[in-house]
Order: sequence, then structure tokens, then C-alpha cells
Amino acid sequence: MIKDNLPSFGLTSKDFGEDFTWGVSTAAYQIEGAYNLHNKGASIWDTFTSKKGNIHNNEHGQVAVDFYHKYKEDILLMKAMYIKHFRFSLSWSRILPNGIGAINNEGIDFYNKLINFCLEHGLTPWVTLYHWDLPEALQQKGGWANREIIDWFKAYVSICCKAFGDRVKNWMVLNEPMVFTGAGYYLGVHAPGKKGLKQFLPAVHHAVLCQAEGGRIVRSLVANANVGTTFSCSQITPYSSKPKDILAASKADALLNRLFIEPSLGMGYPTENVSVLKQIEKYSKPGDVENSIFEFDFIGIQNYTREVVKHNYFIPYIQARIVKASKRAVKTTLMDWEVYPPSIYNMIKKFNAYKGVHKILITENGAAFTDTLLNNSVHDVDRLQYLQNYLQQVKKAQNEGLKVDGYFVWTFTDNFEWAEGYKPRFGLVYVDFKTQKRILKSSGRWFKKFLS
Ligand code: GAL
Repeated sequence: MIKDNLPSFGLTSKDFGEDFTWGVSTAAYQIEGAYNLHNKGASIWDTFTSKKGNIHNNEHGQVAVDFYHKYKEDILLMKAMYIKHFRFSLSWSRILPNGIGAINNEGIDFYNKLINFCLEHGLTPWVTLYHWDLPEALQQKGGWANREIIDWFKAYVSICCKAFGDRVKNWMVLNEPMVFTGAGYYLGVHAPGKKGLKQFLPAVHHAVLCQAEGGRIVRSLVANANVGTTFSCSQITPYSSKPKDILAASKADALLNRLFIEPSLGMGYPTENVSVLKQIEKYSKPGDVENSIFEFDFIGIQNYTREVVKHNYFIPYIQARIVKASKRAVKTTLMDWEVYPPSIYNMIKKFNAYKGVHKILITENGAAFTDTLLNNSVHDVDRLQYLQNYLQQVKKAQNEGLKVDGYFVWTFTDNFEWAEGYKPRFGLVYVDFKTQKRILKSSGRWFKKFLS
């Protein structure tokens, strides 16, 4: 084995304080596999990946990294790395194959075994209720664009709380609603592959309502619950100091960073920046404004990069476009995302500024780089440095007295990266996708040392 030459950093987990939460994040569709085992119903990702051309190399999550069968091995590895908090999501269609109606006890059993195994080994579970894998049966009825989703979701959340709430205390209602509505119902690049405003605007509104309703259900059914939800967020920098670029950046910021948190805080949609959002009115009913509000115990912010935004007359509704990182001569990850550590600091600051945000955790941060397996080792110095540099910025925020109470690395093992398939590897642990063998990368060794 190659002896790791781990770059020095100067900080250990202890420097962030006793109460700081350190963990790793995952999502069901990206890791579980077992896509049709034990009565699991199809999700929109099963359907979307089955259509040629949607995913890089036409890959899919049918097996993924087989977490369904390998969860014990993975949890024991987490334990050996001193990881104490594990964020994973529940697959709605594993629990309710048709999205509503009959409960699949085998699905409940799987999550019970997983939760119990975590607890037996000293890992605290952090459960995301929805990480993008809507049951296909519900998509057939319109999915997030159908207002009935509010009732479907409430029923699903109640079932999960009753089944697992005696042992799971940390809950996140939605994962990145901007991404699943934007990529799934406006751009069509994620499941269910819908395009245009007609589906996007109702999907946004219903997700905002579900976010709050879900929070209320968790709080009412789970004793001593710690209820949060998660948001994608990126620092937005105007391409130049021209007023048009500054305006374009403020529109992108409203859409990418503010659209989902502000209604939950009672601030409404950012219609003054993006006037097309006024059309959400069409899908609104009396009481919706109040029902969108929920006082979360914590907000999970998920940051990877920053975006540089330029005015562009031809982009509908916002006249703004993102200037790709590859066109800007900056250091990038395999996702073509700029490596820009101050972005995480600026996002912590931005979310701190909202009155009504009580606690902030970084529920995802990480990077995909080309990993080379050599002599059974992966010396992923780029990832390691990325994590260290972003953590320096988290520490800077903490030193300045900003709220930041935890940090979860995205992600534990390499996995299925949505439209990009298996190419971008984000894991602390390398996976040989043919044999499902796990190999700790240098970044994983470093994280272990950091936590020890
Ligand atoms: C987030 C998402 C994760 C993961 C990550 C890296 O947006 O929640 O599922 O894919 O990005 O791209």
C-alpha cells in the first residue's frame, strides 16, 4: 500500500467545538440499488433512467452501490472512521409502492434494520424524507405539479414518523427543492423530465407547501424531534460591474437561493426580483401563504460552488445566464463547478441574516475529481484539499460568531450521480462498481484522522 502523504491542515474536528455535528450524507436512489426487490414500486428515477439518452452512458441506479445489501459493511466502515452522524433518505416507493395506499412492510423492515444497525454502532441517523425519487404512480397523476401531492406527501410523512420516530429524531423534509423542481419540471434534465413553466410553477408552490406541512407532521408525531429541511445554495457573482449584470445576478440569486426559504419564513416568493413568479398566484388557494410558514429547528445548506451570472437578453423570464466555470479559467471539479471555498462562508452568512433561522448545518459539501486506483489506493489530493479549504471557511464563519452547527460530507461512497451517471465520483470511499468493493481514499483517511 502507498503510504499516504496527507497534506497538513492545522485544524481538527475538536476545534469546531464539542457540540458540532460531523457526518456524511447520502440519498436512497444514489446508493441503494435493489430497485425492484421486496415489492419496491418504481420511482420517477427508475422510469427516467430507463429512457435512452437521459443519463450519461444510459446508466441507472438499479444496483447503484448495492447499499441495500451492503449497509452493514458501510456502517461499520463509518464507525471505523469515527463518523457519528449518517444522513440518508427514505425511498417513498419502497415504503408505499404506489405512493399512496398499501404499506410495503418489507420496505419498512429494511429501514428498521438500517436504523437499528446505526444505533447499535453509535451512529445517529439523520433522515431525509424526500430526496427526489417520487413514486412513478404519483407522477402518472401529475407528480409535484398536482396539488394532491400535499395529501399524498402528508400521508407518507405520517407513516414514516410513526414507523421510525421512536428512534429517529433528526429529520429533513425535502432535499433541495430548487433542484428537483428546476431540473425535473423546468429544464427536463432530471426526472421526471418535464419542461416549461406550466409544470414548474405549480411544482414549486406545492413543494413549498409540502415543506411546511411535512415539518408540522414531524413535529406533531415525533417526540423531541429536530426538524429541518435542506436547500441548495451558491454565491452568485455578477460577471461585471455593469448594472445589467448586477441585475441578472440578483434574479439568479432570487431563483437559486431564495425561492424556497423565504415563503417558509413568511416573506413570500421573491416576485420583486423575478416577476414571472407572480404567476404562482394561479395555483394558490386561500390560506396558502400561512400554510407555507414553518419554524424549522434547523436549516440544512448545501454548497459546492459559486455561480458567475451575466445578462442575456434571450433567456426567458430572468434575462440571466450562468457563465460556465470552464469558460472562466478557474479551477473546476468534474462537474464543471468552480472550486471556490469562500462561497460556503458567504452562504453561511447569507442564511444567518434571515430572522427566524435558528440553526444552520452544512448538510452537503464535497467534490468530484478524477480518481485513479493504483495499487489498491486512491490518492485523491484534490478532494482532500477541497474539503480542507471549504472547512477553513466554515471555521472562519464560526470564529465570526455566525451560526453553523454541523457539517456533512457529500458523500460516503462513490455513487450514482443523477444525469451524470457513475462518472463523477464524490465519495470518501472508492467503489469498484463491478465488484462493489470499497476502498478508503486518502480523503477518507484524512477525514478519519480529522475526526479521531
Ligand atoms: C446535490 C444533491 C446530491 C448530490 C450532490 C452532488 O445537489 O442533493 O444528491 O448529487 O448534489 O451533485
